[in-house]
Amino acid sequence: MKKKILVTGGTGYIGSHTATELILEGYDVVIIDNLYNSGAEVADRIEMITGTKPPLEVFDLCDRERLGTFFSEHNDVSAIIHFAAYKAVGESVNKPLEYYRNNLLSLINLLDCMKQFAVPFMVFSSSCTVYGQPEKLPVSEDSPIQPAMSPYGNTKQIGEEIIRDTVASVSDIKAISLRYFNPIGAHPSALIGELPRGVPENLVPFITQTACGLRDELKVFGNDYDTPDGSCIRDYLHVVDLAKAHVVAVRRLLAGTNKMNYEIFNLGTGRGVSVLEAISSFERVTGLKLNYTITERRPGDIEKIWADPSLANRELGWRTLSTLDDAMRTAWEWEKKIRKM
Ligand code: WQD
Repeated sequence: MKKKILVTGGTGYIGSHTATELILEGYDVVIIDNLYNSGAEVADRIEMITGTKPPLEVFDLCDRERLGTFFSEHNDVSAIIHFAAYKAVGESVNKPLEYYRNNLLSLINLLDCMKQFAVPFMVFSSSCTVYGQPEKLPVSEDSPIQPAMSPYGNTKQIGEEIIRDTVASVSDIKAISLRYFNPIGAHPSALIGELPRGVPENLVPFITQTACGLRDELKVFGNDYDTPDGSCIRDYLHVVDLAKAHVVAVRRLLAGTNKMNYEIFNLGTGRGVSVLEAISSFERVTGLKLNYTITERRPGDIEKIWADPSLANRELGWRTLSTLDDAMRTAWEWEKKIRKM
């Protein structure tokens, strides 16, 4: 009997890649998405990759009554992977109430329904942003949580605490939070990938949009940091590797091999890569010369962060398999596909 997994935000960037990997691993997937930042056609693309089209229910998780109706119609959901959230750091500074309401109320409604409908497991999409600028690198799960640098980051910190307190208050809910470092790249089929609305905030979509002529130039936000080449360092991991980690996490909960009722894992490569190194990787795999200029630092950027992924390596038996070049290559193939180049 196939286990049914609810993927909220499943037509989004990481959600769609995870829904794909879940189906390929033999799970039944149902998606809830309000299509705020994605399109319904993603479910068709998932079908083109996997041969199975996941049912898509379009509504807002903040609508508690509608969510309750969903669970009364789907009383066989074994676990939830919760991606649905607003995630633009800059936007969250300008719209804090929208971010707190959307990201926290959707989570609270889900947890409430888990209690009401006896859904035992949740995998939560968290972020390395909870660490702020770490004192010590690489960052492990017991590295100190720093005061959030943005309302977005705060919703991830508060979200983890809401889950922790809920799991502690009831005996039949178990959860895993996955703290992503910087997901990049696209599915090798170039059928799904990152589709940022408007001007991308993140580095790699801005690189690929510059390379295809959609943007005039990439601005490198500062090269006067205390790093080898002066540009900021991040831990970039391929989105397919990240998606596979979610399959492993949900399998761990379903099998009952989790060691604690609430577990947290860093998901990264364990290697720091600078902005200029990322640009070099893109130029290497595409043979293109990227048009970029060095500009002022971006307010709020941290200088350097990369993961210590050893807990996930050991406990989940998961590690990243794709290289930075693989990620850049798939990001470019995806960009060319959507621009019909
Ligand atoms: C990466 C580096 C920029 C754009 C954010 C969120 C984090 C997570 C991942 C959700 C930085 C530089 C970028 C550009 C640039 N998201 N850059 N020019 O800020 O590390 O993390 O996305 O969980 O929560 O904060 O990612 O891709 O925006 O920036 O120079 O046009 O690229 O300064 O050093 P970031 P990013």
